[in-house]
Amino acid sequence: TLAPELKDTGPEKLLAPVLSAFWDEDRSWTLDVYKRHEGYEGLRKALAMSPDDVIAYVKESGLRGRGGAGFPTGMKWQFIPQGDGKPHYLVVNADESEPGTCKDIPLLFANPHSLIEGIAIACYAIRSSHAFIYLRGEVVPVLRRLHEAVREAYAAGLLGENALGSGLDLELTVHAGAGAYICGEETALLDSLEGRRGQPRLRPPFPAVAGLYACPTVVNNVESIASVPTIMNRGKEWFRSMGSEKSPGFTLYSLSGHVARPGQYEAPMGITLRQLLDMSGGMRPGHRLKFWTPGGSSTPMFTDEHLDVPLDYEGVGAAGSMLGTKALQCFDETTCVVRAVTRWTEFYAHESCGKCTPCREGTYWLVQLMRDIEAGKGRMSDLDKLNDIADNINGKAFCALGDGAASPIFSSLKYFREEYEQHITGRGCPFDPARSTAWA
Ligand code: NAI
Repeated sequence: TLAPELKDTGPEKLLAPVLSAFWDEDRSWTLDVYKRHEGYEGLRKALAMSPDDVIAYVKESGLRGRGGAGFPTGMKWQFIPQGDGKPHYLVVNADESEPGTCKDIPLLFANPHSLIEGIAIACYAIRSSHAFIYLRGEVVPVLRRLHEAVREAYAAGLLGENALGSGLDLELTVHAGAGAYICGEETALLDSLEGRRGQPRLRPPFPAVAGLYACPTVVNNVESIASVPTIMNRGKEWFRSMGSEKSPGFTLYSLSGHVARPGQYEAPMGITLRQLLDMSGGMRPGHRLKFWTPGGSSTPMFTDEHLDVPLDYEGVGAAGSMLGTKALQCFDETTCVVRAVTRWTEFYAHESCGKCTPCREGTYWLVQLMRDIEAGKGRMSDLDKLNDIADNINGKAFCALGDGAASPIFSSLKYFREEYEQHITGRGCPFDPARSTAWA
């Protein structure tokens, strides 16, 4: 969380702690503490409105999905057909596992009630009486804390039959996944939740039409849902007073890597990495930024030339990448970009679910080539081959995992082709000759 000296830096420093406002408080995860910080006020206000008005309100706030794609949250809720006679479900995607992405887990650990309150509001709006949280199974302390918070909410009458005396019945189930990256893809997540092997389904139909148990389902990211209570309580105008017209509001930026003070920084959408580094102490002393990701490893990397790109969907998009999960992994000049991309590529190959050929075979071949180049056994023609294989995955795989695997290949070749060539002509890694297995 924030370094103490940063907490009092004032608005001129651009920090806007909302979700993270009281993470450092004693027992911040309890209902008592949450209630002292506007807790469940947003739900009260929502229940005084009609469900359709709540949807319209969230839509007008401009909140966009924080899972990576930035799809408008209110619009997603609006897709749920009404009067169809089928049950509707809300599924919260808490299977955070993109390399570098680490915002939902600390949020759940420190402030689980913001999610539970957001779930109650969303269920009321989409007329759902059963919600699920699909959590990454490895994070056992978070799982325990979430179970405890859900128990507290039931005991306080915030969940269960006639929640808050509203006539709304609301069940909330916490489900722990088994650690497969692909289960963060929304349709694979739904298969896994239904008890099957998690593999993506063909879209359309989108979950809003046929989701969990083939019923209309909203799948939202943790941070998206957790942002809703404050929007309902403080108002859509307040939310829109931050960020930009198309990407309004506050958000969590996860700063990691070779920086002086890694952590979660909550600030308006559209600030820049330069501003974030300024207020967080910069790169580690004596070093300079070489490359970084705007939103985890699946978003094309940037260099030190992109320090002033506004971190919102439009700004990052116009500069040739994607905002993704706002996971800002910063690497300094001591990092071998070929090595970093090799590690990411190994991750995608390992996590490829195997359902479609471009991703299953393509990620395997990318790893072979990247390992060879990194070890000094590559050829110049391999660079075109890398591009060619990535091109055969990108947009041709069944789901976004394939695109994610192709993205660091494309962007590293675009900005650091020379470094690849050095590995080939020098027959080894210029950063770490001991790692090379040069062959004559
Ligand atoms: P997408 O753009 O295909 O869909 C985004 C959301 O909008 C989905 O919930 C989808 O159901 C909904 N949607 C889109 N078009 C729709 C339509 N016509 N009708 C109804 N609903 C519609 O993006 P996708 O493939 O779901 O996710 C890709 C993103 O995930 C990337 O931006 C990446 O940054 C992020 N990601 C996040 C990870 C994490 O750990 N948080 C891990 C890996 C990727």
